[in-house]
Amino acid sequence: MLRALFVHDLLFALLLTTPIYAATLQASVEKIVADYGLSTSTSLPFPSATQSSADCQKLMVANWSLGKGAIQDNPANLAFVADPFPNDPPPFSGNQNLSGPVLQAVYPKGSYSYQTGGSQWYNLWNATAGSKFQTMMVSYEVAFDTNFDWVKGGKLPGLRGSTKSNLAGCSSGKEKELNGTDCFSTRLMWRKNGVGEVYASIPTSNGLCSKEGISCSKASSTSIQRGSFGFTSGRWNRITLLVRLNDPPNVANGNIQLYYNDLKAIDQQGLQIRTNAQVFANGFYFSYDPASFLFSLVTHDVNNRTFFGGADKTWETPQTAHTYYRNIRMWGSSTASNLTGNTVNAAGRNAALGPTTSTLAGLALAGIAAALCI
Ligand SMILES: *[C@@H]1O[C@H](CO)[C@@H](O)[C@H](O)[C@H]1NC(C)=O
Ligand SMILES: *[C@@H]1O[C@H](CO)[C@@H](O)[C@H](O)[C@H]1NC(C)=O
Ligand SMILES: *[C@@H]1O[C@H](CO)[C@@H](O)[C@H](O)[C@H]1NC(C)=O
Ligand SMILES: *[C@@H]1O[C@H](CO)[C@@H](O)[C@H](O)[C@H]1NC(C)=O
Ligand SMILES: *[C@@H]1O[C@H](CO)[C@@H](O)[C@H](O)[C@H]1NC(C)=O
Ligand SMILES: *[C@@H]1O[C@H](CO)[C@@H](O)[C@H](O)[C@H]1NC(C)=O
Repeated sequence: MLRALFVHDLLFALLLTTPIYAATLQASVEKIVADYGLSTSTSLPFPSATQSSADCQKLMVANWSLGKGAIQDNPANLAFVADPFPNDPPPFSGNQNLSGPVLQAVYPKGSYSYQTGGSQWYNLWNATAGSKFQTMMVSYEVAFDTNFDWVKGGKLPGLRGSTKSNLAGCSSGKEKELNGTDCFSTRLMWRKNGVGEVYASIPTSNGLCSKEGISCSKASSTSIQRGSFGFTSGRWNRITLLVRLNDPPNVANGNIQLYYNDLKAIDQQGLQIRTNAQVFANGFYFSYDPASFLFSLVTHDVNNRTFFGGADKTWETPQTAHTYYRNIRMWGSSTASNLTGNTVNAAGRNAALGPTTSTLAGLALAGIAAALCI
């Protein structure tokens, strides 16, 4: 801890004396779109006036191209409400029109998983006939109630992909939803104190679990660079997530990048996101379980693998809480990652599950820079 504080202070001092560094790291959505040739785009249409949950559900079903044509869990927890933080947009918002209603998700008091609160649905971005997206980016803004109680963690939206567009979300922790044959998902999570990470349901090939900043659990998804950025409650936070699928499927050259308030926080390379060339990126994956049935305190099994405990009320929301979403935009390209990567020595997740690291990555410079901007 002392060491972390020291590094933090050092970076802080460095940042104050070299303010240009933050500017170097800044990458607007437009710049990323240009850099990766993401020529196709879409956005989820919001209403111009607030809407009750019933109308909100109708609009989403009619206009958001939902997988299975429905909101999977607790649709009554969603509504379009007035912006709770109209004067606190993320930095670098440019001339975007960010007024208008926002999507509100309610976490009823005492909820702790999608079974007791939260909601899940996914969008199928297949409007362009025959689109086979191998690179996809989503950008959205998320806000949490002022003084939001982070408890131990919760899920946030990201992207998903699969072979057939009607497959489920790829989040169950089942072997076939983690080995890259049928699907993948890359959502986000907040943890204690609003610390952020990418939470990926992907294979853990080539010793991914022993790489720095990676935390694996036995039958669930992989935490990528926890602590590389952090969420702030009581204002808007912009999230931009870029996923470049590995190509060919037996080479781990996939790439996940995360930008927090337009500052690059994560650039994870060497990933095998799919093991099947027929898996493509399909669209936005919304899940907002206040916490998860998957984990509690980090423990170690007999092989000293890190894993997290089961369904557990210690994750429950102490009072009714809300998160808010708006400006949900996506970009795509049929081009996969062109990075170099190692051929996968043993396909599949279990064969490749090695020793794990559970260390909390210190706040990365990008995260600190982001914190300074707000
Ligand atoms: C890889 O793709 C990036 C982004 O599209 C491009 O800038 C770069 O030149 C490509 N590199 C190679 C080796 O093709
Ligand atoms: C879907 O979008 C169209 C076009 O903006 C709008 O006229 C219609 O009311 C929307 N449907 C619902 C159910 O809100
Ligand atoms: C911004 O968007 C809102 C909601 O859609 C709309 O009512 C308003 O007229 C827009 N403002 C401008 C300046 O375009
Ligand atoms: C996307 O594909 C699904 C499943 O094939 C279909 O139900 C839906 O209507 C499609 N959406 C669009 C916008 O084409
Ligand atoms: C993934 O799991 C499914 C179901 O267990 C299996 O059929 C498939 O062969 C596995 N794929 C890999 C790459 O291990
Ligand atoms: C188990 O792993 C933890 C964290 O990686 C490490 O601190 C501990 O020494 C390991 N214990 C054994 C018995 O190997």
